[in-house]
Order: sequence, then structure tokens, then C-alpha cells
Amino acid sequence: MSSMSSLHIQVGLPTDLSVTAARLYADAFQRKLSPILGPRPTLEAILQAALYPPNAIVALHDGALLGLAGIQHQQKHFVDVGWSHLRQFHGTLGALGRAGLGLLLMRPHRPDELLMDGIAVDSSARGQGIGSLLLEAVCDFAHREGYARVRLDVIDTNPGARRLYERHGFRAVHTQSLGWLKPVFGFGSAIEMVKSVKGETP
Ligand SMILES: CC(C)(COP(=O)(O)OP(=O)(O)OC[C@H]1O[C@@H](n2cnc3c(N)ncnc32)[C@H](O)[C@@H]1OP(=O)(O)O)[C@@H](O)C(=O)NCCC(=O)NCCS
Repeated sequence: MSSMSSLHIQVGLPTDLSVTAARLYADAFQRKLSPILGPRPTLEAILQAALYPPNAIVALHDGALLGLAGIQHQQKHFVDVGWSHLRQFHGTLGALGRAGLGLLLMRPHRPDELLMDGIAVDSSARGQGIGSLLLEAVCDFAHREGYARVRLDVIDTNPGARRLYERHGFRAVHTQSLGWLKPVFGFGSAIEMVKSVKGETP
């Protein structure tokens, strides 16, 4: 899809990298996901079981995974956690409470928007432009597939990521407060940001 020196960006996670992808995703989103999926290593195990490899845009360097951006495409999330995953790892009662919490982070599906499910770069490779390349690749993909916009959420405790999105043309359109659940998830609100990709040249 695109490359810079020996860095390669492609659509689709090679399936043999699912374990690494789950680790990378857990490193980046542990604070937000653990209340729903559980502490490590359960978090990593559920992610690994629930990953849908085609719905990721990944950055590879000599075959090693340096970063990934999950996308929701053709009705599938990159991290597609279902009731069966929760019940397998937490039992029926535990799964009920966790599914309830999960509903709070759900976003409505809008057919003309590509939802970015989360972007993460290996901590040793941040600040070198990989996140920017992944974001551009997500927007190119959205344009090619005929979506009008790309949508993502950024939490209020992550101003660095918000700056990155703004530099790439994303604009905040809505803020959803977590209210009394702030201590559970460790952030107070999620800001929805969108970028139009209609007129873009891929
Ligand atoms: C956000 C993230 C994907 C950016 O990837 P990256 O490869 O470092 O991005 P780039 O090199 O293209 O751009 C760097 C910019 O990312 C942002 N950034 C956020 N966290 C950063 C970190 N730990 N190290 C470096 N940059 C970071 C900054 O805005 C930085 O630019 P600036 O500080 O000069 O304004 C990466 O930092 C990451 O994986 N963070 C943890 C997971 C996360 O927060 N994901 C976003 C959830 S909404």
C-alpha cells in the first residue's frame, strides 16, 4: 500500500501476528479496556480470540508489527468481542456486568462513516511518524471504499493523540461524558472526531 524506507503499511493483519497485535493493543488500551475485558493476561487472551485480522491497517518493519489501526468495516469491528468471549473468560454472572459496561462505550453505526476502532504504535517506535502514516492509510482506505467520513473517539486524558488527529484534519463534533463512571475507566469523557474523505485523492 505504501512504504517509507523498509516500513510497510498494508490493509489486513497477517494472522501469525495476532498474538503480537493483541499485546500491542492491550499495552495501548489496558486502562480503558480492563474494566470490561479483565486484567492481563485475560485482557490479552480475549483480544487475541476476538481480533478480526482483515479489519486492521498495519505497519510492518522487516515482518515485525510496529503499529496498527483497527477499523469497523462491513459490519465487523477489528476487536469483535462477543458474549461468548466474555462468558468463556468470566462466567455468566461476570459476563453480564462486563457486557453492561461495554454497552456504555458502544457507538452508533453509521453506514457512510468508517469508524476507526483504535490506533496503537509500539512504545519503542512512537514519535517517528508511524501513527501519521496509519491515519493517512485509514483515510485512503475509507475514500477508496466509498465512505464519506472517518470517525474516531479520543478520550479527554489523551491530548497528544487529539493533537495528532487535529493535524490530520479531524474535527471534534461531540463530547460524551462518562459521569459517575469516570473512576472506573480512568477518563471523564470521549470526544468524537470526524474527517471528510469525499474529495480526497487516494
Ligand atoms: C497516538 C499514537 C498512535 C501516535 O503514534 P506515533 O507513531 O507516535 O505518531 P506520530 O509519530 O505520527 O506523531 C507523533 C504525535 O503523536 C502524539 N503522541 C501521543 N502519544 C505519544 C507518545 N507516547 N509518543 C510520541 N507521540 C505521541 C503526539 O501528538 C505526537 O506529536 P506532538 O507531540 O509533536 O504533537 C501512539 O502514541 C500510541 O500508540 N499511543 C498509545 C495509544 C493511544 O493513545 N492511541 C490513541 C487512542 S485515541
